[in-house]
Amino acid sequence: MTSPFNGERDLQRLLAGLSPRVAAEPYVFVAVDDGRVPAGVEPFATVREDEGLSLVLPQRQADDAGLAYDYVAVGITLQIHSDLAAVGLTAAVATRLAEAGISCNVIAGVHHDHLFLPRARAEQAVAELERLAKEAAALPRPIVPVSPADLPAGLLPSGWSVRHPAVDDRARVQAVLGQWWGGLGGEAGARERAALLPRLFFQHFTDTSYLIEDDKGRLVAFLTGFLSPSRPGTAYVHFVGVDPAAQRDGLGRWLYARFSAAAVARGARQVECITSPSNQNSVAFHTRLGFRINPGDRTVNGIPVHSDHDGPGLHRVAFTRPLDARGPRPA
Ligand SMILES: CC(C)(COP(=O)(O)OP(=O)(O)OC[C@H]1O[C@@H](n2cnc3c(N)ncnc32)[C@H](O)[C@@H]1OP(=O)(O)O)[C@@H](O)C(=O)NCCC(=O)NCCS
Repeated sequence: MTSPFNGERDLQRLLAGLSPRVAAEPYVFVAVDDGRVPAGVEPFATVREDEGLSLVLPQRQADDAGLAYDYVAVGITLQIHSDLAAVGLTAAVATRLAEAGISCNVIAGVHHDHLFLPRARAEQAVAELERLAKEAAALPRPIVPVSPADLPAGLLPSGWSVRHPAVDDRARVQAVLGQWWGGLGGEAGARERAALLPRLFFQHFTDTSYLIEDDKGRLVAFLTGFLSPSRPGTAYVHFVGVDPAAQRDGLGRWLYARFSAAAVARGARQVECITSPSNQNSVAFHTRLGFRINPGDRTVNGIPVHSDHDGPGLHRVAFTRPLDARGPRPA
């Protein structure tokens, strides 16, 4: 017999299978001073607190028993059988509803999670949850996750090192953007790139960002990336750059593999990034690494682009890559 405690733990599968079911009756939250469930009342849930006993029960029962309440909620059961040890489901659901301005109280049973939220928002909440499920179902599945142990330590020349960036690295990274990008876009392009790498990337995204330095401590390559807080399972590479003197030697691929390993370890299943349609090297590099170019609204030089993606005239090519065994090879 399958144990009721062996539910689904995989966040992507949990989200894909949310399958929200709305309870027919409205629920209310009631506080009982004497700490006892009144006769004839069958609460859905009870919570014993220092201040007394809370009941969650159908509104009709509370009315029949003369119990006072002021919060009337709709109950939504997520029908996927979630494991109590699953990580991230409540956060993902609450975040998606919060983005829509919907407050939500969650009660976990052994089999399912149950949401209680304002009745007037029920329809919108179900639509948001179904959209979340659809997005999770559309994500590619990993085949074999890349692990940091798979990365070839020997690829970097002797004396070179890789580390996470720190706040003090901001200026030296910004300083190379003009030359490393080959003056792309002229001065405006250089200013735009520096503005896209402000201090916050060296404060808040360091765990998933990397610098490679040579034996004299000179910066040779860097990658700035993070895990999407809004889209579980998606990692994002914001910038990657290699000193022109060291390009076409595998460092870009190595950085992507290092980042992918960290992202997979944190639950990511795909990696995304964008580039300017005029950056043909970047398009070639990402294509070679197995990225797919997402459909755009027009083409520039035969490449699908998203018009005004980042502002008027700032068109972008958008890439997606599943994180699986075929993904960015480390060497
Ligand atoms: C794009 C960039 C990061 C690539 O780094 P790199 O270290 O030179 O790339 P790699 O050596 O790891 O190349 C990986 C693969 O892509 C291919 N590739 C890289 N640059 C390419 C180019 N310009 N044209 C065609 N293929 C290219 C390599 O041949 C290699 O393929 P292979 O494994 O089949 O041999 C580097 O050229 C760069 O820093 N450019 C300037 C900054 C930039 O445009 N960044 C990207 C946008 S944020």
